[in-house]
Order: sequence, then structure tokens, then C-alpha cells
Amino acid sequence: MKKGFFITFEGGEGTGKSTQIERVRSGLVARGIEVVVTREPGGTDIAEHIRQLLLTPNKEELTMMTELLLMFAARAQHLEHVIRPALRAGKWVLCDRFTDATYAYQHGGRNADLVWIQSLEQMVQDGFKPDLTLLFDAPVSLSMERAIKRGKLDRFEQEGIDFMERVRETYLALAKQGQGRFRIIDASATVDQVTLAAMDALTP
Ligand code: TMP
Repeated sequence: MKKGFFITFEGGEGTGKSTQIERVRSGLVARGIEVVVTREPGGTDIAEHIRQLLLTPNKEELTMMTELLLMFAARAQHLEHVIRPALRAGKWVLCDRFTDATYAYQHGGRNADLVWIQSLEQMVQDGFKPDLTLLFDAPVSLSMERAIKRGKLDRFEQEGIDFMERVRETYLALAKQGQGRFRIIDASATVDQVTLAAMDALTP
């Protein structure tokens, strides 16, 4: 039975999720909470191998179906070996992306059939969802500029502005339908302001 708290960090490229997850971790540890920070795709040895396949540009095109199945393969591994055990032990799990990213990128970005994603979600997660999702939102022009400054672009970051606009719109639509699970955070504010908003979202 789940006892901990599962918080996911979502948003487009260059929205500052990784910086914020570290800052939130420090804030929670200072409150005496046991925290596990992890990410998707990835978070276990095998899932990190799958991440490499997904993010590294390759001469052979990765089909949309392969991409989708690999996302859920990595997730199955991650849930079994990291997320569920940590929650059972009463820890708080902060996860850099989860299934909302599959809806945003594979459905919104790549146009993968919604029913496929819903079926895979049911198979792999069996109703399991985050307790809270922080959606870091910023205009695509700003966030892509930050991603480009960070260095070499991965396979998703190379997709371009139209793809990223669809990802952003899908995230915002998910937040609207999300039955209170989402908090939208303005990621175009300063790093400190964004941290304050993120910590505020965690305060009951
Ligand atoms: P990032 O977490 O470092 O931003 O990189 C992960 C990339 O993988 C990012 O471009 C989004 C993409 N992704 C998907 O397309 N679908 C998913 O389900 C997940 C978890 C990530």
C-alpha cells in the first residue's frame, strides 16, 4: 500500500525543471522529509539505457510506436524498482517527468493515438497516478532559447518550434482536465520566484 507522496515535474524543454527539482528537494529535506529524486525516461540502470536509445539521434529512424513502447518499458522498470518501493517506505518521490509527458510529446507532439497511450498506461500503471503535478510553463520561444544555450540538442529538442508548441498546448489541456492534480507554475519568472511558487504548491 502506498504511504509516501508522488510529485511529478513536467514542462517543455528549457523550462528549468531540473534546477527546480533540486531546490525543492533541499526545501523538503530541510523540513525533515525523506525524498527520492528521479527522472523519466530513466531512473534505473536498464531504464537509463532505454533513455539513451530514446534521446540519442540515430541514422535509423525510431518509429513512433517504438518510441511509445520504449517510454512505457522504461516506466515499468522504474515503477517496479524505484517509485513503488520508495512510496511504500513512506518517502516522497520527486520525478522529473512521468506519463503526462507521454501524452504531451507522443500524442500532442507526434500524434500517437490517444487510445494506445491510455491502454499502455492502464497496463503499466493499473490506475497509479501522481498525487501532484507541477507544470512549468513558459513560451516556447523562451524555453527553446534556454535549451539551445545548454548545448547539443537531443532527439526531441531537435524537433523544432511547431512540435514544442503542440507539446505546450497538450500540457495546458491536461492541466485543465486534471481534476486538481496540476499546479501551473510560470517558468518565465526568475529562478527564485519559480522556487517560491513550487514550494508554495507543496504546502497544503
Ligand atoms: P529531459 O527530461 O531531460 O527533458 O529529457 C527527456 C526527453 O524525453 C524530453 O525531450 C521529453 C521526452 N519524453 C517523452 O517524449 N515522453 C515521455 O513519456 C517522457 C517521460 C519524456
